Amino acid sequence: MAINSVKGTHDIIGSEAMGYQYIENVFKAVCELYGYQPLVTPILEHTEVFTRATGEASDVVRKEMYTFLDKGGRSLSLRPEGTAGAIRCLVEHKLAATNDLPLKYYYFGPVFRYERPQLGRYRQFIQAGIEAVGEDSPYLDAEAIVIAMRTLDFLGFRDLKVKVNSLGDQNSREAYREALRDYFRPHLADMCADCRERFELNPLRMLDCKVPADIELGKLAPKISDYLSEEAEKRFYKTLSLLNALGIEYEVDPGLVRGLDYYGQVVFEVHAKSASGVDYGALLGGGHYDGMLSDFGGDKSIDHGVGFAMGVERLYSILQEGGQLDGVDPGLDIYLMPLGEEALPDCFELAEQIRGLGYTVSLPYQKMKMGAMFKRAERAKAKFALIVGENEIALGEVQVKNLESKEQFPVKIEELEQTLDSLFGEEEEHHHE
Ligand code: HAM
Repeated sequence: MAINSVKGTHDIIGSEAMGYQYIENVFKAVCELYGYQPLVTPILEHTEVFTRATGEASDVVRKEMYTFLDKGGRSLSLRPEGTAGAIRCLVEHKLAATNDLPLKYYYFGPVFRYERPQLGRYRQFIQAGIEAVGEDSPYLDAEAIVIAMRTLDFLGFRDLKVKVNSLGDQNSREAYREALRDYFRPHLADMCADCRERFELNPLRMLDCKVPADIELGKLAPKISDYLSEEAEKRFYKTLSLLNALGIEYEVDPGLVRGLDYYGQVVFEVHAKSASGVDYGALLGGGHYDGMLSDFGGDKSIDHGVGFAMGVERLYSILQEGGQLDGVDPGLDIYLMPLGEEALPDCFELAEQIRGLGYTVSLPYQKMKMGAMFKRAERAKAKFALIVGENEIALGEVQVKNLESKEQFPVKIEELEQTLDSLFGEEEEHHHE
């Protein structure tokens, strides 16, 4: 019986993987522009990392985690997001004691959520994210949004919808939770089982419910904006004014509460539709959080962070459909064509010499007809064919064929390097025009 990939996971193959790498490279380059450094933490963590920090009340932790006992009887989980593990790492290595604050890191890697797979929703997916930790500043909060926007801009996204909201400080949220409980209490008996649980654990989560009747109820629920303390409100306006100053357009969405428990102050999401109008869900989400370092025994006086994570599959799908990834697979420089069995050993060696010059080369590994080799060269998007038959070997030459213009001419082996350099030099210039 055939064995297929696990439901909700997907393979990323060849030129598709080049698209993913391209997204990663753009993201890296942008993060480095802002002085962020890479962080690679384990995919596997003690389950407690997420129950403590990501939040026991969130669906992500309560229902969607891949949790198991290892052979030593420890409860481990595949990370459902990057933030908790990053903070665990920063505290464990006491990075705040030996580095200037804020600590600024970015990451790119797989995360796991046991969700119902659908368009844009996987069980294993890739997140590209940042965390800036150890300093409490609206400048840092605004910068997180700016980094996200610059990444999307570099990738070629247009018509983005940026939603921001403030969840205020702890006092604001406490007052708001009570207001939500007062509002939902009379309807509780008619609401879904999850919402009844959320009512106790964290009524903010009730606003995230996917059950249609509960969504309707949520629409008329009190808004956090009416419960922000004066200080939280001032801070929110400061963040917004920084975005205004940089010309970043946004919309304040008082219903945006985000799905994870740790947020306070500013939260944000960015949405976009594909060229044909497909909505894959939020491209990214993030926000400010307080109190996570002390969850891991870290210093209370610097217990602040802000960050975001982008869903790389969603970015890929939209960019792919929009044609922005078309040039990402550069194709081969040269396809080498041995004519007849006798030419194969010479070609095998010649290929190696040309690779030593820095050109990408592929060739068949057995005798093949000319027509078949040209088809292969075309599929490999080769720019030039180098044809080597017995004649050429005898003369110490190769035939060079430009596969675009179809122009063909002989070149002496000892002049090949110079010829290739000038041919590809012209190509380069052509590309930069
Ligand atoms: P999140 O909103 O749970 O935030 O996830 C971030 C992004 O991951 C989403 O906006 C979406 O693009 C993508 N995503 C989520 N679930 C799936 C899925 N099942 N399949 C494909 N893509 C998905 C976080 O994870 C926070 N850790 C972000 C953050 C960092 N906040 C502060 N720092």
